[in-house]
Amino acid sequence: MAPQQKTVKDYIRTIVDFPHEGIMFRDVTTLFADPRGFRMAVDQMLHPYAGQRIDKVVGLEARGFILGGAIAHQLGTGFVPIRKKGKLPGKTISEAYTLEYGEAIVELHDDAIEPGETILLVDDLLATGGTAEAGIKLVERLGGKILSCAFVIDLPELGGRQKLEAMGMDVSVLCEFEGL
Ligand code: PRP
Ligand code: MG
Repeated sequence: MAPQQKTVKDYIRTIVDFPHEGIMFRDVTTLFADPRGFRMAVDQMLHPYAGQRIDKVVGLEARGFILGGAIAHQLGTGFVPIRKKGKLPGKTISEAYTLEYGEAIVELHDDAIEPGETILLVDDLLATGGTAEAGIKLVERLGGKILSCAFVIDLPELGGRQKLEAMGMDVSVLCEFEGL
């Protein structure tokens, strides 16, 4: 396909049977590696918020850091990471969330967001919504106001979007993939 005709979705590679049999892994490394694709993704994620106040971009580990850093740079805002347990050096608050097998914990520095700040939450992919839900709770516990949650990919069969919208969140995605 001619590069000018490609959409963000066209740059995402599917790896069959990763991390285990029966899973179709939507791999954004091919999107990030392409200069046109990466810029397109960042620009499209920003587009809905043109002219709106955003104080900080919050990115979810790990791929949300790549997108969130680029988006924050473009907006001229600060970037705040939500990390997996045990990685942040300062005083943190934490939230547990459910994975396919067991639980995980994400953390946020307790002084990373001022009450009332407007936040754009960023990650690469929305599946069950568990990771994003934990991130939303962390931001809201510090008094941050989430303007929107922005993702490259939604897997609609897993219901993450409904979960976040039921929490009152605005959700934006660049593309959807059917089939898990
Ligand atoms: C993946 C993806 C999202 C999350 C989505 O991250 O990057 O962060 O899962 O799943 P959910 O909506 O069901 O919570 P993963 O946990 O594999 O970690 P990584 O980004 O650090 O590789
Ligand atoms: Mg992730």
